[in-house]
Amino acid sequence: MRIYRILFRQARALMEERLDYYSQFNPSPLSMQQFTDFGENATNSDSYLFLRKELPVRLANIMKEFHLLPEKLLHMPSVCTVRDLYRMSFVDLLEFESGDSSKSATLDKFTDTLLKIRNRHIDVVMTMAQGVMELKDAHSINANTEANIQYFLDRFYMNRISIRMLINQHTDKTPVTVVYVPSHLYHMLFELFKNAMRAVVEYHGPGADVFPPIEVLLVMGQEDLTIKLCDQGGGIPRSHMDLLFNYMYSTAPQPAVSGLDTPPLAGYGYGLPLSRLYARYFHGDLMLTSCEGYGTDAIIFLKALSSEANELLPVYNKTCQRQYSTPVQTHDWSSQVHSAMFIRPFSTNSLHKHQGQGNSLGGNCSATQ
Ligand SMILES: Nc1ncnc2c1ncn2[C@@H]1O[C@H](COP(=O)(O)OP(=O)(O)OP(=O)(O)O)[C@@H](O)[C@H]1O
Ligand SMILES: [Mg+2]
Repeated sequence: MRIYRILFRQARALMEERLDYYSQFNPSPLSMQQFTDFGENATNSDSYLFLRKELPVRLANIMKEFHLLPEKLLHMPSVCTVRDLYRMSFVDLLEFESGDSSKSATLDKFTDTLLKIRNRHIDVVMTMAQGVMELKDAHSINANTEANIQYFLDRFYMNRISIRMLINQHTDKTPVTVVYVPSHLYHMLFELFKNAMRAVVEYHGPGADVFPPIEVLLVMGQEDLTIKLCDQGGGIPRSHMDLLFNYMYSTAPQPAVSGLDTPPLAGYGYGLPLSRLYARYFHGDLMLTSCEGYGTDAIIFLKALSSEANELLPVYNKTCQRQYSTPVQTHDWSSQVHSAMFIRPFSTNSLHKHQGQGNSLGGNCSATQ
């Protein structure tokens, strides 16, 4: 038994040492143009040589950032599960540090490992969301903790999008024929249509004979490709606008934590924040404007030129470390009690996160592209 414990400790120390090493490097952002060129021209071996370093770098950067999260959150069972998955995948990749790129056995094994990692992490978005819910159920949370969680989740999910992008690029060699990543576009449009349809049905009542259409405007400009969805679903009060991109902010009924009948991520309040990350990943953006009493416009901006669409990646450095220890600023303007500018999604006296207004239009939201 003792020998196992010694071996375990040695393996852990080695992993920590490699984690320190890889976290010293900044991730290398690629442009959409580079992705398409690479997909068309690079050999399996070129891709292997790039990824065996870039993947550990991206993993190590976000794994280090885990240490900056509040202790209480790190002890939540689902968060422990997520951390273990990241450790396992990091260790799996270390095996290829000195692999021979001219041997097809090495390349095949590497591809198998990437597929294994992709499958292992398939539920990470939901598991992490559950970890935050566990924290919320077990402890009261102050404004600093909320702000740190929001900051971390944006970076954590963006890091995950980028890692899956690299893995998909390596494991699927069919040439890319569109300028945008189809699965990302699908994810954003799916979420925006889901929101717009729910709003229209709830606003006009399920008994309505005819529902007003959701109109879509698609424009290719010199710099931006813009997709605008306009619905007549009653809009959003201005006082709620600041909350829309907070993880867990939702007016849909609270979903079951687990259960086979529940489609993943329906009603968790992850639709908008995750979709905005997909848009920002290649330096686009996602915005909502609303006219309460009428409807909402949701706009996706994407880079029109693939050479300008560079990856946006979180970097673990001094600035990010400071972010976790800087207290939330107190306001220097007077505020109304309960003004939504100051409502936080986790605070107990705030808007109810899950107000139970009608049904969520669930659907099979796929957050795992
Ligand atoms: N088109 C819209 N019209 C009216 N309200 C909207 C619209 N889009 C979003 N909202 C409001 O913003 C909230 C947050 O949206 P978001 O997509 O992030 O989460 P959700 O739809 O509640 O849950 P999930 O997307 O995880 O299933 C919604 O609950 C809803 O109150
Ligand atoms: Mg939604």
